[in-house]
Amino acid sequence: MSDRPVIVFDSGIGGLTVLRELRVVMPDRRFLYVADDAGFPYGDWEEAALVERIVALFDDLLTEHDPALAVIACNTASTLVMPALRARFSIPFVGTVPAIKPAAERTRSGLVSVLATPGTVRRDYTRGLIDQFARECHVRLVGSARLAPMAEHFLRTGTVDPEELLAEAGDCFLEQAGRRTDIVVLACTHYPFLANALRKVAPWPVDWLDPAEAIARQALKLLPEPPATLPEGFDRVIFTSGSADHATRRLLHGFGLETAA
Ligand code: DGL
Repeated sequence: MSDRPVIVFDSGIGGLTVLRELRVVMPDRRFLYVADDAGFPYGDWEEAALVERIVALFDDLLTEHDPALAVIACNTASTLVMPALRARFSIPFVGTVPAIKPAAERTRSGLVSVLATPGTVRRDYTRGLIDQFARECHVRLVGSARLAPMAEHFLRTGTVDPEELLAEAGDCFLEQAGRRTDIVVLACTHYPFLANALRKVAPWPVDWLDPAEAIARQALKLLPEPPATLPEGFDRVIFTSGSADHATRRLLHGFGLETAA
C-alpha cells in the first residue's frame, strides 16, 4: 500500500478544474498541486523551450516527492510534452488534450469550435486530433492569449468584463448554410471557471465541453491500488515562483490546498 501523492500540474490555477474531479473519483488520495506560475501563461511559449522547462521541473518534482502518478492538467503543455515526459520518467502520466473526439461524436450541426490558448491551437497534435476524429465536421480553432489570465483574475476577484469575454470567445460562434455551432470545446483547463460567464454572453446556447471528469476517470484506471489510510489535513500546493500572493494562497486554501514549505 502506498500513499505516494498524485501530482496535478498546470501553468496556473486552471488545473484546479481537474483536481476537483480527481477528488471525486479518488477521495482517498493525497494530491500535490503544482502551479508553474513563474512560467505562466504558457500560451505563447516557444515549443522546445517549454518542453525543456517542464521536463526539468519534473526532474525535481519526482526526486523530491516520489509521486505515484502525474496529471498534466494543461492542454497547452499536454499537446506537446507527453512523449518527452513518458520517455524520461517511469511513473504514469495522464494528459489533458482538446476533447475533439467526443465533440465530433455529439455534434448535430457538424459545426464545432475549440477554444484554447494560441499554443494549443498551433500544435500538430491538435490538428492530428481533428484529422483522426473529426473529418466529417467543420472544426474552428479559436486561440486566445487573454482568456487564461482573465480566468485567473476572475477567480481572485470574482469579476470579468462581459464585452472582453465576448471579444475573446465570439469567433467560436459560426452560422453556415442554416446551421450553427452547437459545441464549444473548452480546451484550456482555466476556461471551465468562466463557463457561467461564457453562457451569459453566448449569442445562442451551445454545449461547453469540459473533459475534466474523463481525465479523472483515466487517472483512476492507472491507479488501482488505494492507499492504506485516508489522508488527513490539507493537500499541498507548490508555486514555482515561490512567491504567490496572499489572495492566491487564500484562494487555494479554499480548494483544500496549503502552501508547501
Ligand atoms: N491551463 C492551461 C491549458 O489548459 C494554459 C493556460 C496558460 O498557461 O495560458 O492550456
